[in-house]
Amino acid sequence: MINGGMWRWADRLPVRRPDQAVSLGEGDTPLVDLSRTVAARIGLDRLWLKAEDRNPTGSFKARVASVAYTLIKERGLAGAVGTSSGNGGAAAAAYAAAAGSRAILFTLADIVAPKLREIVAVGGVARRVTGIGHDAAATRQIADRIAEVSDRLGCYPLLTGFHYAAEAMTGVQTIAYELAEQLPEPAVVYAPVGGGGLLTGLHRGFAELGAVPRLVGVQPSGGASLRRALAGHPEGLDHPVTTAVSGLQMAVLYDAAGAVAAVRDSGGHDVITDDAEILAAQAILADAGLLVEPAGATALAGVIADLAAGRLDRAEPVVVIATGAGHKDTAALDRLASAATVPVITPDRIGDELASLINDGGGRP
Ligand SMILES: Cc1ncc(COP(=O)(O)O)c(C=O)c1O
Repeated sequence: MINGGMWRWADRLPVRRPDQAVSLGEGDTPLVDLSRTVAARIGLDRLWLKAEDRNPTGSFKARVASVAYTLIKERGLAGAVGTSSGNGGAAAAAYAAAAGSRAILFTLADIVAPKLREIVAVGGVARRVTGIGHDAAATRQIADRIAEVSDRLGCYPLLTGFHYAAEAMTGVQTIAYELAEQLPEPAVVYAPVGGGGLLTGLHRGFAELGAVPRLVGVQPSGGASLRRALAGHPEGLDHPVTTAVSGLQMAVLYDAAGAVAAVRDSGGHDVITDDAEILAAQAILADAGLLVEPAGATALAGVIADLAAGRLDRAEPVVVIATGAGHKDTAALDRLASAATVPVITPDRIGDELASLINDGGGRP
């Protein structure tokens, strides 16, 4: 048996041999108390951040890939084939490497470079495909085709949604199991929504435990597929995605029914923010010492928008799911802090620089 981490929940996961699990140390991510920093700044009493960026491969998708490759090994499958905006692909490629297996990823044509590098660096094979993510009908068609061909060729369809990979996605439910243990009191849970798998998994995980908190799905305005699904359009956006937030560039919810059920059954709602608000939330987290990618700050952007709109009471305890690490989107990181603005100095200047920096309050108080 593997010590600690997500595999503590092996008896809830659909595998036969958890002692043979393909693990890189996923799960048991920290719940960081932000009540005195971020919460105080945005006008909330209690706030926690579930740091899913601390997973191997820097996102919650590591949980999914760990279950997937454990199943692939158990079943003697030829590997996994999937679509990806980057994080699912990076996770698949890493766990394929750990399992001595194969990962083939069909990614967004405009996948951010660091995520593509992550896939390739650990031996994953990628093809960038036009249309994926940005166009609802094309994304659904391509995903269906990949799932079908993958099955025919003896591979696991690792498209990270319950609709395509229900067994592997049970890995997401372990986030709910951990939260139920970690939270000192029940709290409203805010999560970003791309294909809807995260929200669906949280819902299923909490439902299994018999206590579902209010679940709030947050999306950028340029990819508000959940709002469309809640209004009776599960087929996705009727226009191309316009958000630049990597991971949330999804014109269609793979898990439309699951995401709608998560919101409706939990008494939650959806929030639409814009990219600028998401980047502002990323900067607020950075200011509190937490560097996440824009998608990882989207839940916080939703909390801030809800406080401003009076949809959230400041006394309500809140959890935000920080889904991905800061290094994954270097363009967003450059917007936060450009390396070019850091002066180069000669060693003889160090004393004077230090004196003036400390006197002028540089680098915080
Ligand atoms: C960092 C990050 N956050 C959120 C999401 C959205 O998750 P889901 O597609 O399960 O809704 C993704 C999906 O790729 C992601 O990479």
